[in-house]
Amino acid sequence: MPVEVIRVDTKYRTIKTAIPVPESIPILQRVYETESHSMHGQLPIIWDKAEGFQVFDSWGNKWLDFSSTIFVTNAGHGNKRIVESLRKVIDKPLLHTYTFTSPERAAYLDYLISHTPKHFEKAFLVSAGTEATEACLKLMRLNGQKHQKRKGGIICFEGNWHGRTMGAQMMGWNPGQKEWIGYLDPNIYHLPFPYPWRTEAISDPCKYFRDSIKDLIAKNNIDPKTDLCGIMMETFQGWGAVFYPKEFVQEVAAFAKENNLLLTFDEMQAGFGRTGELFGYMNYEVEPDLLACGKGASSSLPLAVVLGRKEIMDLPGIGSMSSTHSANPLVCAAGLANMEALIEDGLIDNSKKLGVQFHHSLNELKSTYSKYISSIQGKGLLAAVIFTDSDGKALSELCDLICEKCLQTGLLVVHTGRESIKLAPPLMINEEALSEGIETFSMAVAESITELYGS
Ligand SMILES: Cc1ncc(COP(=O)(O)O)c(C=O)c1O
Repeated sequence: MPVEVIRVDTKYRTIKTAIPVPESIPILQRVYETESHSMHGQLPIIWDKAEGFQVFDSWGNKWLDFSSTIFVTNAGHGNKRIVESLRKVIDKPLLHTYTFTSPERAAYLDYLISHTPKHFEKAFLVSAGTEATEACLKLMRLNGQKHQKRKGGIICFEGNWHGRTMGAQMMGWNPGQKEWIGYLDPNIYHLPFPYPWRTEAISDPCKYFRDSIKDLIAKNNIDPKTDLCGIMMETFQGWGAVFYPKEFVQEVAAFAKENNLLLTFDEMQAGFGRTGELFGYMNYEVEPDLLACGKGASSSLPLAVVLGRKEIMDLPGIGSMSSTHSANPLVCAAGLANMEALIEDGLIDNSKKLGVQFHHSLNELKSTYSKYISSIQGKGLLAAVIFTDSDGKALSELCDLICEKCLQTGLLVVHTGRESIKLAPPLMINEEALSEGIETFSMAVAESITELYGS
């Protein structure tokens, strides 16, 4: 239902209608009638244009985007380098090549391999993140078979999430999301996550990992050398941008080496500059065997990537790991221009530099509202503000209201549906716009607390 809201007109935000826009309602209704209900979790606005760190509708409203379409548009919406290179391929025209090679594909692979760490010798290009995590599952198990392992055991983590297809959901934690499958993979195991609020995990992260893996081995009667093939870790836990302690990850990496397991990071949200490093795993100073990336890989078109050593990436036979839309020329052109923008235009450095101010301001907000905000998580231009009361109870209702108020005042944030709100502007944002966004968010927090709790 459209709500009359206070009009906003600043350099970066404009709200000049009721929200949602009354004229948008019939369009939204028609979409709800013609498209699966599963697609409709977002707040009701209709995007007409998106440029840089701003999103526009066709009724004169303009939002500052602190979502980057959930970590996709790291190089900014409609990045000029990406638009220009797409235009060149469209004008040829060359829209699809199936699995034949194109100059765009060759150029992208070349740049990707030469601008990522040396041990990533080959790439596999797909369309969705869930395909990339599934491909890593397959590669970990194929590698186990090559080494005559008895079982295809994979270690995953509580609270992690890897996509919506079957293997990805088996590796993911959420038990409710797996019910449709009807059974569980007996060789996929989950270890407890070292949350910062679990004191035993923080006081001795290495012991926490060693104790939990020892329990898992005993409980399942397995030998890690022969029954486990790999470890899948989401670089940080998505809903709350929660990182593992560095020593914990280093201990996981040591365990993987001791037992000849492949260590895989799901970099979907963490990759391509988001945390102030090219890849988020770099914050842990470890060297993974496989990387599953997507989202920010192109800042635009559907592109996901698996990176690894040649000996692992060449395990599947010809045709057994490819997809109809793999390495589409437009997508490759976008992928290349995106990496050039991130690396050559200094956007990863900008994420690191502005990330300091970003986290400083959010921590000040936490101090002001310590009764409601329990922690600020994340790194670089990625933050999650976690709302719980003094008994640790999740304040999801407060998060819903804050997200709605942000929308009404010209700021898009990531509504997680849980006790967290994620903030992640495009990495090309400037200091002024970043401050305006934080101020808008802070106002929404203040007003929502007053409205719900009266203080
Ligand atoms: C950590 C993580 N892994 C995998 C995926 C799946 O990616 P896609 O939606 O492109 O299939 C996502 C998507 O949100 C994600 O956040």
